[in-house]
Amino acid sequence: MQARPIRFLHRQQTVSLPEVEPTRTVLEWLREDAGCTGTKEGCGEGDCGACCVVVAELEGPAGAERVRWRSINSCIRFVSSLDGCALWTVEDLASPQDGLHPAQQAMVDCHGSQCGFCTPGFVMSMFALYQQRVAGAEPQRITREVAQEALSGNLCRCTGYRPIVEATQTMPGYPLRGVDETALLQQLRALRDGDGTGLQAGATLRPRHLQELLALREARPDAQLIAGCTDVGLWVTKQHRRFASTLDVTGVHELQQVIEGPGQLEIGAAVRLSDAYAALVARWPQLRTFANRFAGLPVRESGTLGGNIANGSPIGDSMPLLIALGARVRLQSRRGARELALEDLYLGYRQTAMASDEVLTHVLLPLHPPPGLLQAYKLSKRFDDDISAVCLALAVTLHAGRVQQVRIGVGGMAATAARAPQTEAALQGQAWDEATVRAAMAVLRREFDPLSDMRASAAYRREAASGLLWRFWLESQGIGPLRVEQLTLATLQPAAGGVT
Ligand SMILES: Cc1cc2nc3c(=O)[nH]c(=O)nc-3n(C[C@H](O)[C@H](O)[C@H](O)COP(=O)(O)OP(=O)(O)OC[C@H]3O[C@@H](n4cnc5c(N)ncnc54)[C@H](O)[C@@H]3O)c2cc1C
Ligand code: FES
Ligand code: FES
Repeated sequence: MQARPIRFLHRQQTVSLPEVEPTRTVLEWLREDAGCTGTKEGCGEGDCGACCVVVAELEGPAGAERVRWRSINSCIRFVSSLDGCALWTVEDLASPQDGLHPAQQAMVDCHGSQCGFCTPGFVMSMFALYQQRVAGAEPQRITREVAQEALSGNLCRCTGYRPIVEATQTMPGYPLRGVDETALLQQLRALRDGDGTGLQAGATLRPRHLQELLALREARPDAQLIAGCTDVGLWVTKQHRRFASTLDVTGVHELQQVIEGPGQLEIGAAVRLSDAYAALVARWPQLRTFANRFAGLPVRESGTLGGNIANGSPIGDSMPLLIALGARVRLQSRRGARELALEDLYLGYRQTAMASDEVLTHVLLPLHPPPGLLQAYKLSKRFDDDISAVCLALAVTLHAGRVQQVRIGVGGMAATAARAPQTEAALQGQAWDEATVRAAMAVLRREFDPLSDMRASAAYRREAASGLLWRFWLESQGIGPLRVEQLTLATLQPAAGGVT
């Protein structure tokens, strides 16, 4: 790996940064170094979306790449992660010849902005969606659901969301203003091929190949391992921690892939959460709501599945689901590779079995036999963009009315995400009926000793987890609850002539 500057495209030019502090954020670079103050800082922790910018990057196998557009939170992404990408901010959309971009014009026409502080972030999330859905080869309609998902990481305190969602939906009605993707693809390829190797810019290390990563992990134990920085970024912006150097896994080709092999789905640790969950939802569509409730879209577009697992938070969302699915994790170092059941990775609160020279490289999911019933539930104070108080995931296979196989993963119930072996034992081999489930609910209430904290009390967590098991059983009987995501203004409106 050669020492070379960080290089990325901004406004048709190649930006070259030889020396940047490893924890300098994209937002700091934009506002303080590049003088682009259109991008705003609200929370500085990935919650509000005021700082959203759009990155375009190459995706896919060499020779058949395509451009991938993502709206991300610039306040918690380090500037080194832009290496090899193209960057757009709110200042880059309007042009003297063509005027405002459809994302901006639609906001004006739909009255989508009042104080305007959130507007640059909303516009950038809309621009990413525009590039994905409107400017591409096969333009698509923007449904309300699609618009809401695209805006799920953007908060507005004064306008209200209806006009902003409406503006997002009306973008396709304006004269087409797409970026020339053919030219961009060539520019991104030239950038990548010109640089040849991974990045070593000052104290920032961003290898491209697994063997390079493992060698650096061994040789540079001082370097903070980072991925999408949706956890690590907050250590910097909120806890004011600084790292002398960083070792970024997200450029490593072997960790960026989702591979479906015979009987197994293999997800690279550096696969972004949006793509990892897309792969899970493609196989198990009933997980869509759960997947969409992981943070907001800009966090899912930066954060990785490996980062979620390695961070080891007891309230991380992926782990209960992956445990229920029987996931194994692969850890690698220069000494070799080993695999273990995901639940065995965790030794205690934020402690894992990973050695200091190891890296989490892949998550392995068995595909056969598929569970007959599968669901994951998340309870949080806010429906969108919030972290779980309690999470429960269940995979159950029935045979002749009895539980043939069961795996349960829980979050928020112990110091780590965990499997629930006692509750599983209460169900295993039993008739799948109300009496069995009621008995298992009692076991689940006793099996864990959860914390009381700002998200929920221990008593609430016990009751809620057992209630989710009950809900799972009811759903398996065809008795679905009213789902909050299915409520729309139309369903809430009283019938004509009814009481108002
Ligand atoms: C606004 C907001 C909302 C969020 N909402 C949710 C939510 O709803 N549910 C949820 O579960 N989480 C949530 N998170 C937390 C975070 O997004 C996830 O934990 C995310 O998956 C972390 O991945 P990352 O790639 O950003 O990891 P990073 O922040 O880069 O790293 C996290 C940790 O993992 C280690 N690490 C990363 N990759 C590897 C690897 N390959 N091998 C070994 N160690 C590695 C790093 O060293 C670090 O210790 C939220 C965060 C924010 C900012
Ligand atoms: S400033 Fe709030 S998400 Fe970045
Ligand atoms: S317009 Fe004021 S916060 Fe959205």
